[in-house]
Amino acid sequence: MNVVHFSSHQFERQELDRANAGRFSVVHLDVRLDVTTAVLAAGAQAITIFGNDDASADVLRALHDLGVRHIALRSAGYNHVALDVARQLGIRLANVPAYSPYAVAEHTITLMLALNRKIVRANSRVRELNFSVDGLVGFDMRGKTVGVIGTGKIGSVLVRILNGFGCRVLAHDTYPSEELIRDGAVTYVDVDTLCSECDIISLLVPLMPETKHIINARTIGLMKPGVMLINTSRGGLVDTVAVIEALKSGHIGYLGLDVYEQEAGIFFHDHSDNVLQDDVLARLLTFPNVLITSHQAFLTNEALNNIATATFASLDAWRSGQRAEHEL
Ligand code: NAI
Repeated sequence: MNVVHFSSHQFERQELDRANAGRFSVVHLDVRLDVTTAVLAAGAQAITIFGNDDASADVLRALHDLGVRHIALRSAGYNHVALDVARQLGIRLANVPAYSPYAVAEHTITLMLALNRKIVRANSRVRELNFSVDGLVGFDMRGKTVGVIGTGKIGSVLVRILNGFGCRVLAHDTYPSEELIRDGAVTYVDVDTLCSECDIISLLVPLMPETKHIINARTIGLMKPGVMLINTSRGGLVDTVAVIEALKSGHIGYLGLDVYEQEAGIFFHDHSDNVLQDDVLARLLTFPNVLITSHQAFLTNEALNNIATATFASLDAWRSGQRAEHEL
């Protein structure tokens, strides 16, 4: 079975090649899969793709025409894949549902603390030998009310960390966690209550039609003035234009993003020699109380190792005519 890795980044190649251990003939491509690049899969029976690749209907049809029958997602989320079309075409898909919930939860906390304690500004000052701490006042996490929207694998880990800080945790989830309730770790409420009562709000639900722009002008209006909003899940959960208005008025006091609705083609790439064409992102980057990372919440050694191992386990299963463990 020949395999093409699309969007193969330098940071993951070593782990992918280790997990392969020469079993499959592979090609690493640093190009993103889309309708124009699908042709590069010619000769492969399987491809692997990353979270920002485009596996929409036309791309899947082009891949099918080339003979691709298996797609292993090197990601948990699959909102970038036209699943129904894949099923019609007989293309089999698998994802990596849990490669390290700790990595994402810990990065979420990193954004919270860095914003709260103004670490980026502090570091810039010290490097210019400005040792003044005026304007760097933060707040104790202990006693603050933190809202977690989505208490699945990652959200549950986040709740436990927040418990450790002594925060009061409110959560919203269509399927509340019995374990978190039993342990008294969290109180489940509806989205509106969560928005109106929390000092910090963290998003960890998947992106679906029901969750698209769950943070919008209306829900922002319910929030406390000066609220901190953190999105490490999927960009489409947030109406970015509404968030910018709230940042301008001061209603949102801090914004931490690891994901952005229009991140495809921007995040994961070096654009330092280019003019940024995305005016919304450009505006976000002007706020001193906004901290953006480029979809790196998952980026730990442990997670990369787990992703690579699970990806090749799917390919092994398919090659031997079996169902992959995490087949979609
Ligand atoms: P999960 O599937 O374990 O948990 C998602 C939770 O959301 C579940 O408890 C589910 O019941 C809940 N949910 C689903 N629809 C809902 C709705 N309409 N309203 C309220 N709750 C709803 O997923 P996991 O592993 O915790 O991941 C969460 C999200 O984190 C992923 O969907 C993905 O978008 C994002 N993620 C981000 C990464 C990054 O590097 N920034 C890496 C990995 C995941």
